[in-house]
This record gives sequence, C-alpha cells and structure tokens, in this order.
Amino acid sequence: MKKIEAFIRPEKLEDIKEIMDELKLNGLSIMQVMGCGNQKGWTEFVRGAEVDYNFLTKIKIELFVTDDQSEAVISAITRRAYTGEYGDGKIFISDIQDAIRIRTGERGDDAIK
Ligand SMILES: Nc1ncnc2c1ncn2[C@@H]1O[C@H](COP(=O)(O)OP(=O)(O)OP(=O)(O)O)[C@@H](O)[C@H]1O
Ligand SMILES: [Mg+2]
Repeated sequence: MKKIEAFIRPEKLEDIKEIMDELKLNGLSIMQVMGCGNQKGWTEFVRGAEVDYNFLTKIKIELFVTDDQSEAVISAITRRAYTGEYGDGKIFISDIQDAIRIRTGERGDDAIK
C-alpha cells in the first residue's frame, strides 16, 4: 500500500475529485492547508508598503491506495493539477504497512478496496 499526499491549487479540487470515479477509489481525505514551496510566498505592495505573504492556501489530498493503483493515481493527479506555473503543487509518496477497516476487521489491501 502507498500513501499519496498531494498539495494542489484549491481551484483544481473539482478536477481532482473526478479521479475517484475514474480510478474506482474508495476513499480519500481532503485538508485545507497553508504552505509555501520554493518561492516562499509572494510579495505585494499594500498602500505603498511592501508586504510579504509567506503562506498560500493549498489543498492537501491524502489517499491510501494499493500498490497496483498508485502510479495511475499519481499520473491522474499530476495531469489534472498542472498549469505550468509556479505553485502547481507537489506529490509525496510513502509506503504503508497495514490498514484496518474497523467495521469488518479486514486488513491490508482488503481494507482499502
Ligand atoms: N517540501 C515540502 N514539504 C511540505 N509541503 C510542501 C513542500 N513543498 C511544497 N509543499 C506544499 O506544496 C504547496 C505547493 O508547493 P509549490 O508547488 O509552490 O512547490 P515548489 O517546490 O515551489 O514548486 P514550483 O517551483 O513549481 O512552485 C506548498 O504551498 C506547500 O503547502
Ligand atoms: Mg512554488
């Protein structure tokens, strides 16, 4: 199993939700986060004064998927989140040891399928 954590632009959330049906995923979590990447936010002039906004609102999508599903999910998110501009986001992938569906006691892949 893999955990996929994707930081995306908030306006891309609707596009990303389509992945659920397309790839027959059974669950995901979405969080609104504040963050920055390489650009460390941006600078603006407010009434003549330079103001730094260090953190931008992003959406974090967290998904636990089977090893088989992982690459398809990653490429679907990448395709939909892309604009080509700074701040398109990032995807982090990690290995997951186990999962449990509390209602049934199912473990591993069975718990997330
Ligand atoms: N190393 C990181 N650790 C945790 N969160 C991160 C990291 N890098 C980026 N993020 C999250 O992803 C969001 C989007 O990052 P962003 O796309 O600006 O990354 P970047 O590395 O600056 O790439 P780009 O140059 O394309 O903008 C950030 O606002 C932050 O929430
Ligand atoms: Mg950036």
